[in-house]
Amino acid sequence: MLTFVDLVRWLFILMSLTHEELVEGKRIWNVVNKSIIKTIKVETNEIIDCYDIYRQPSLNHPLFCNHTIQREPNSYPKGMKSDNFGTSQLTQTWHKYGLCPEGTIPIRRKGKNYDPTLLRKHRPLKLSPYKTNVTSPEDVNGGHEHEYAIIEVEGNFLGAQAKINLWQPVTEIYNEMSISQIWVSAGPDDNVNTIEAGWQVSRKLHGDDYTRFFIYWTNDGYKTGCYDLFCDGFVHISSTIALGCNFTEVSTFNGRQKDATFSIYKDQSSGHWWVQLQGISIGYYPSFLFKELSKRATQVIWGGEITNWKSKGQHTSTQMGSGHFPSEGGLKTSSYFNWVKVVNKNYTAEDPENVGIHVSNPDCYGLKIDDDNYETNGYGFYYGGPGYNDKCQ
Ligand SMILES: *[C@@H]1O[C@H](CO)[C@@H](O)[C@H](O)[C@H]1NC(C)=O
Ligand SMILES: *[C@@H]1O[C@H](CO)[C@@H](O)[C@H](O)[C@H]1NC(C)=O
Ligand SMILES: *[C@@H]1O[C@H](CO)[C@@H](O)[C@H](O)[C@H]1NC(C)=O
Ligand SMILES: *[C@@H]1O[C@H](CO)[C@@H](O)[C@H](O)[C@H]1NC(C)=O
Ligand SMILES: *[C@@H]1O[C@H](CO)[C@@H](O)[C@H](O)[C@H]1NC(C)=O
Repeated sequence: MLTFVDLVRWLFILMSLTHEELVEGKRIWNVVNKSIIKTIKVETNEIIDCYDIYRQPSLNHPLFCNHTIQREPNSYPKGMKSDNFGTSQLTQTWHKYGLCPEGTIPIRRKGKNYDPTLLRKHRPLKLSPYKTNVTSPEDVNGGHEHEYAIIEVEGNFLGAQAKINLWQPVTEIYNEMSISQIWVSAGPDDNVNTIEAGWQVSRKLHGDDYTRFFIYWTNDGYKTGCYDLFCDGFVHISSTIALGCNFTEVSTFNGRQKDATFSIYKDQSSGHWWVQLQGISIGYYPSFLFKELSKRATQVIWGGEITNWKSKGQHTSTQMGSGHFPSEGGLKTSSYFNWVKVVNKNYTAEDPENVGIHVSNPDCYGLKIDDDNYETNGYGFYYGGPGYNDKCQ
């Protein structure tokens, strides 16, 4: 016998089912709250939803209940590069299939494969200056290791920036990833707060091996936090750049180099941490999401990260950067970070000082400060490598 309460419940469920749209195995509550203004289908099975900027999912986060969206940053650090210098205008592939209207923001719909548990990110742990001879992997996690080739500074910072060239590194195992990025962080390892931005290849996360723009945040040492907009927190502002989408072009070996400027900095009036790509303000993480990072960052890291699942009992041939060592040659061969800058307490961008270099396994991936191109490219370094080789087993 159905009770009246059951009946009402069933009626309610039926009503809501008829108001849903079923796309790519995910139910979208479009008609119900009308937050999606337009949907753009990109080739393969990628879908972009254009959300009303004032009804974007992040605003559901409990801390946002009185939040006023900041449409653009009010301040910009002195000396930070904001233009699209270097390579020609970068675009994302989905633009060919449509654009999001004014007042809306593009959100890439989560793929069927999305599984946050396997994709926990990390920050390099236990850093020590210039440990180029470390051979034991530092960070073993669920059968796979995170490996790094990075530079690092400590102090008090209000932002960081770098121009990174874009490559499409090979990842051997479906679960592996290859990342080039900036970490802006504060706090002890087990409770670290980070804001991260860069590019990545991750078949597990995206279903293919294209080079995609990503951001990441955690406020509790990677126990929670997420990529892009997979959890609430980041307020997206740009209607043209989508998180988790690929670039139309990447660099080619001994050919044309494609790069992009990634910046993370704190707005002086609102305190929000803004993320920019090529000088375009993508959006921000409000400072109230963080404890350690609410006032300033105490560490900035730039460089590459890969995961190694040691399939077949040996190091995999997952590439970092261009897949070539810095020792094989610089520009057009190895991947680079240029115009590496921190924003100091005086809100001025400057070169990093007292830089620590950390390479977790120099036989697999390397890093070399670029001393030859300071005049044209600012402070920079080459990094990356092929993974498995005669020495890296
Ligand atoms: C739209 O409605 C659904 C179902 O009530 C809810 O889960 C979702 O968070 C809402 N989205 C926005 C942006 O309000
Ligand atoms: C929102 O505003 C109300 C009323 O001023 C206040 O009681 C509440 O704590 C605020 N919530 C947040 C998350 O700031
Ligand atoms: C690093 O390794 C090389 C070759 O194995 C060795 O010659 C060198 O002394 C080592 N450096 C340090 C600081 O241990
Ligand atoms: C970007 O993704 C599209 C498919 O959506 C693909 O056709 C294109 O080759 C990719 N571009 C690059 C540079 O990887
Ligand atoms: C900030 O500016 C003050 C006054 O001009 C100067 O004394 C100080 O060294 C500057 N600090 C940094 C980190 O540049």
